[in-house]
Amino acid sequence: MNSLPGIMKRNNGFTFMVNNRPFILLAAETHNSAGTSREYMVSVWKKLEELNCNTVLVPIPWESIEPREDYFDFALVEELINGARKHNKKLVFLWFGTWKNGHSTYVPSWIKTDLTRFPRTENEYGIRSRTLSMFGSGILETELKSFRKLIQYIKKTDEGQQTVIALQIENEVGILDAARDFSAAAAEAFEKNVPVELLEHFRKTENDFFIQMIKRSEHTSDQSWQGMFGEVAGEVFMCWHYARYLNELAAVAKESYALPVFTNVWLNETDDEKPGFYPCGGPIPEMIDVWKRGAPCLDFIAPDIYTFEFDKFAGLYTRDDNPLFIAETRRDKWAAANLYTAIGKYNALCYSPFGAESVGENKSFITQKMHTDSADKNVSSELVKEYLSQSYKLLGNMMPIISEYYGTDKMTGFSQDESRMSKQIKLGKYQISIEFYHRIDDENEFIPAAGIIMERDENELIFAGYGYRAYLNTVNPGKQLDFLSLEKGFFDEEANWVNYMDLNGDEQHIQMEEKVTILKAVFYEF
Ligand code: DGJ
Repeated sequence: MNSLPGIMKRNNGFTFMVNNRPFILLAAETHNSAGTSREYMVSVWKKLEELNCNTVLVPIPWESIEPREDYFDFALVEELINGARKHNKKLVFLWFGTWKNGHSTYVPSWIKTDLTRFPRTENEYGIRSRTLSMFGSGILETELKSFRKLIQYIKKTDEGQQTVIALQIENEVGILDAARDFSAAAAEAFEKNVPVELLEHFRKTENDFFIQMIKRSEHTSDQSWQGMFGEVAGEVFMCWHYARYLNELAAVAKESYALPVFTNVWLNETDDEKPGFYPCGGPIPEMIDVWKRGAPCLDFIAPDIYTFEFDKFAGLYTRDDNPLFIAETRRDKWAAANLYTAIGKYNALCYSPFGAESVGENKSFITQKMHTDSADKNVSSELVKEYLSQSYKLLGNMMPIISEYYGTDKMTGFSQDESRMSKQIKLGKYQISIEFYHRIDDENEFIPAAGIIMERDENELIFAGYGYRAYLNTVNPGKQLDFLSLEKGFFDEEANWVNYMDLNGDEQHIQMEEKVTILKAVFYEF
């Protein structure tokens, strides 16, 4: 029998394993309500098929599986598993439990209406929110019981086929519109001393910010959250408690059916955003170390990258203790381009545009929102769909090859940013100058160019992607480079190279097409 899906340390990075083989989740996340309608899902499966994705991320709302306390109905879960099997997709379930985007909107009504057993967070003026508090509450115990039932159901139904390959716990946790939970029970916890294990952990990390904070507080006997962490005390406090809470859920999942488990993050996109504007207590980049200590049972923390600084945030979540797994990202003209950076440069385990069934449509049927950014006024949604689906097909066929390069320095990826027409890249002995064909602005209709380059051996490079030219030099002093051969072709579904054309003489240039292309070049030095 195959081992369970899992994350393996390989080379200097991580690989997601499914059926004992490396697997890259070229994924799609549905709109939040999608899975609750069997009829709607019929059209979703068809659209996702057209996207060539191999995995679907789809929510399981708590209220749908436990409408009355201790009465469980897993029809929705069963339906999704059957649908995925029929369409040959893997599934990642998103457990919309106690928290979803900072609120508690997906808990069953018997929880919503019982404010004594399940109290709410309060802001500094004592006003209650729509968010459940974890302090002085019966919620953890209740959620653990329900979550365990769900995992047991997945194990019973799916262990043989392993359609479900990972679980997200909660969704973008944190508290909105307040700097922390100010309810009486939370305030009491806030007065306590910072746990020693957290301080010990900070001493061992290379997190300068926290090391300085601890050093500063060594001159005082005040070990409280406020005393130790001053103006970030509320946020560190919330992070620690959310992390401990989610760790309990992750531990239950591991002990019942050990699939990879993770949580996702609503990022603080600019430096001046205050906690509460984004959900305070979530694992934003500055707080990852708090979460790593608080929730060791989570396999990784997954950013939702909607910002235009895709490369920066992808880099911040690619760490020795955290593989990059992009749970959500834009579904506009950047969707295809950023994929190449995610896979080629950061070796992402997963890439997943949100509301992906609406790719190719101008407006989502569910949210009524345009799928594009306003700056995309000239980029049609059909074009986005074409590039994303072709890219998923191309990278999907190359998966066995690409995954060999995960965690090595023999592959890179890039996408064109808004303002530049060129990029310099170093790969092995090659200095590569990339030139893009088109300027990206709101006046034109181009999808940003993107590519992946792999050094198969010292003389052979593979170029994948679209919309660029590449000029290469060797860094070896006194040497020049020239082609021995250049082939245009593709990888078939068994990852075998199929040569379509020998490009020779006059046409021997790394000149990608406007649509996704693969070139295989062999060089020599003289
Ligand atoms: C981020 C959330 O995590 C998703 O569930 C979804 O609501 C999107 N935002 C909508 O843009």
